[in-house]
Amino acid sequence: MKPLIQKLVETPGPSGYEAQVRSVVRAEVEPFADDVRVDNLGNLIVRKGDKQPDGLRIMLAAHIDEIGVIITHIDDSGFARFLPVGGVRAAGCLGSRLRFLNGACGVIGSERLSDPSKNPAFEQMFIDFGVSDRKECPVRVGDMAVFERPYQEFGQRLVAKALDDRIGVAILIETLRQIHQPKLAGHHELYFVFSVQEEVGARGATTAAFGIDPDVGLAVDVTGTGDTPRGLKMEVSLGKGPAIKVRDQGMLSDPRLVRWLVQTAESARVPYQTEILELGWTDGKSIQLTRAGVPAGCISIPARYIHTPSEMVDFNDAYNAVRLLVELLRKPISLD
Ligand code: CO
Ligand code: ZN
Repeated sequence: MKPLIQKLVETPGPSGYEAQVRSVVRAEVEPFADDVRVDNLGNLIVRKGDKQPDGLRIMLAAHIDEIGVIITHIDDSGFARFLPVGGVRAAGCLGSRLRFLNGACGVIGSERLSDPSKNPAFEQMFIDFGVSDRKECPVRVGDMAVFERPYQEFGQRLVAKALDDRIGVAILIETLRQIHQPKLAGHHELYFVFSVQEEVGARGATTAAFGIDPDVGLAVDVTGTGDTPRGLKMEVSLGKGPAIKVRDQGMLSDPRLVRWLVQTAESARVPYQTEILELGWTDGKSIQLTRAGVPAGCISIPARYIHTPSEMVDFNDAYNAVRLLVELLRKPISLD
């Protein structure tokens, strides 16, 4: 699974421009899918199995987009101004390198600040392409980039950009592979959705959920942790298992799903944590509020430094999330 994670995080896919990631995922899932399609927004939708009398139509979602920047203006000397796409933190921008979808690379610099102890605002920063004239600038207004940073393994801890949410994408691909074994599939009609535009407001999952009209929805995404020096007060740590979401800024998980997840984790002896996230949301909120409403929940992978170019997760949490998902999906479900 680690080579797959590396391939996924190294493929650029800023919100709205996910085509490269989509084709990587498509090649991985096609051998195991009953049906693969791409909807009008660009969501890759994989169906596995048919709904049996004792089964449900279940939508699983992990987003293939990542945060990035978009060029807004280029000056006569070839310096480009930009806006964030998704929740980019200004604090981490200075000195960061960017890779554009056309292959061009740039480094983020800043104007001289009157108060050097403060972080520059986005409008005070620019991208330097190493050119001296607008005519030599390798990008145009509207071009998009992602942060450029190598994938590294610190033992079982993985560090990379875009682990939000390529770790979730890898988990869904691996779950689909395992569910492919005849003894594990059978009851449910499963939709593995590799969704677009989550970072700009869970937009892809909105249309995917409307189209699929699921009985139950589960997002797989990252969440914060409370285990760093003087960090967040949060009872989630790296390496203690996938987190079962109870609450975030966009969703109160359906309590029946929370119970189903907790009971399944306990009976299968999969370590798990309970997640209450202060800020942020996932595709779960879009699934929950589609049509007349859908019971929805989320399995979260604890991650440090989310929305910086060096996010960190523990591989064991991803491994255990796959174990939990396979357990959840192989049996009939009663949501009473
Ligand atoms: Co995110
Ligand atoms: Zn995410």
